[in-house]
Amino acid sequence: MSSHVKDLLTLEGEAFVRAAYLTLLGREPDPGGLGNYVRELNAGVRKLAILSKLRNSDEGRRHRATLRGYRGAQVRQWLHARAEGSGRVSPSLTRTTSDDGVWLDVLGILDGVDKASLRGEIHCSWDYLRHYAHALRIYRDEAINVIEIGVAAGASLKMWLRYFSRATVVGVDIDPACAALSGGRAVIKTGSQDDKIFMTEVARAYPPSIVIDDGSHLATHIIRSFETLFPLLLSGGTYIVEDLVFHFACKGEEAVAIQPFKGQPDDRVFDYFARLVAAKAAHVTQIKSAGEDFNRIYASIDSICVVGGALIIKKRASRGLSKYMAMFEDELRTRVATEPSRYDYFVTRYAEFLIIYEYQVQRAVQLLEELLVRQPDHVMAQKLLYKALISSGRPEEASKVMKGLAEVEQDVTVPATYLPEQMVYPHR
Ligand SMILES: C[S@@+](CC[C@H](N)C(=O)[O-])C[C@H]1O[C@@H](n2cnc3c(N)ncnc32)[C@H](O)[C@@H]1O
Repeated sequence: MSSHVKDLLTLEGEAFVRAAYLTLLGREPDPGGLGNYVRELNAGVRKLAILSKLRNSDEGRRHRATLRGYRGAQVRQWLHARAEGSGRVSPSLTRTTSDDGVWLDVLGILDGVDKASLRGEIHCSWDYLRHYAHALRIYRDEAINVIEIGVAAGASLKMWLRYFSRATVVGVDIDPACAALSGGRAVIKTGSQDDKIFMTEVARAYPPSIVIDDGSHLATHIIRSFETLFPLLLSGGTYIVEDLVFHFACKGEEAVAIQPFKGQPDDRVFDYFARLVAAKAAHVTQIKSAGEDFNRIYASIDSICVVGGALIIKKRASRGLSKYMAMFEDELRTRVATEPSRYDYFVTRYAEFLIIYEYQVQRAVQLLEELLVRQPDHVMAQKLLYKALISSGRPEEASKVMKGLAEVEQDVTVPATYLPEQMVYPHR
């Protein structure tokens, strides 16, 4: 029987499982094991993962078969998996098109929208579309939902329908007259963007991959819509806030125009988004003085692109990561046996991976809680458990962990030699 992994990997189905058993356990598979692994193969579990399971089982360890090329194959698989990225959630995150970014602008000019690049005196326009195209072209031929707040005469609605060949474009407008534009792939919903219940219903009925806020341009509305819709945006989705260059604030019954940097007070929109941009630029994990809702949104933002007068905000993509998880779990089993002293280090790295990708965070909670039973003062595990509980929507349990953490951290003393003033710099 072969003892090189390359030979084993050329076999399929039952033949692969039989050969793997003979090589790694020195025996034929029992019917239960055979059926189980064939089912796993059919479900897409990688052959290397199955070899790893057999090899790391108690029986496999006792048998101690050498399987040439096994480590190298594992490393290659890791590298390959990292290079190709992982699954997808919001359609076509991985696809590129030949769209050069000008087509959307051309459509905008043809359809008479004020988002196109014309900046002359005759057709003053905001020059957004060239920039949007870079963020949006990946969705062009996907069956997504696009929600645009603000329909008016339907110019941009028409443009989006032309640009996105299969999308349902949901226009939201407070003006009931806009409903006349419904039909085909266009759906018009009548209501106000600051009505949280109404907007939630729209987003639940049409889970959006893209939201464009071109509605009332009132500061409070812009923020409320963002806080309502960004959490409901599909992972990997894009949220656009338009016309930051010229928006409004309520003064009593009146709406007054706000032009940033022209000395107007009460510019909440600018403060709000500037804070998000600053936090991203500073690459902090949270803003302590901001509330939990703000931080939850902040944590789910992948990137913020600032263009003249508008923001293009991308949501993190939580993808199907089961294949990577299987590798971590395999590795976990191996490390319990082979590297017990580094086990907690690996567990915290694995848990953080799950938290960062917002994938199976419950498993991270479980691993960290187990670790904390054994090492109650493990500060890193406590910090991660706090994050995992927050991202699982369990803030009360999270704050208990945080309290415990504060107590532990008080006990941490920094050796004097680590303090900056104690360091000796060669050039001084
Ligand atoms: C700038 S226009 C939209 C233009 C359109 N997107 C285009 O580019 O062709 C703004 C629209 O927002 C609508 N609007 C105003 N207040 C609103 C609110 N509270 N909720 C939803 N829509 C609102 C107005 O009725 C108006 O049709």
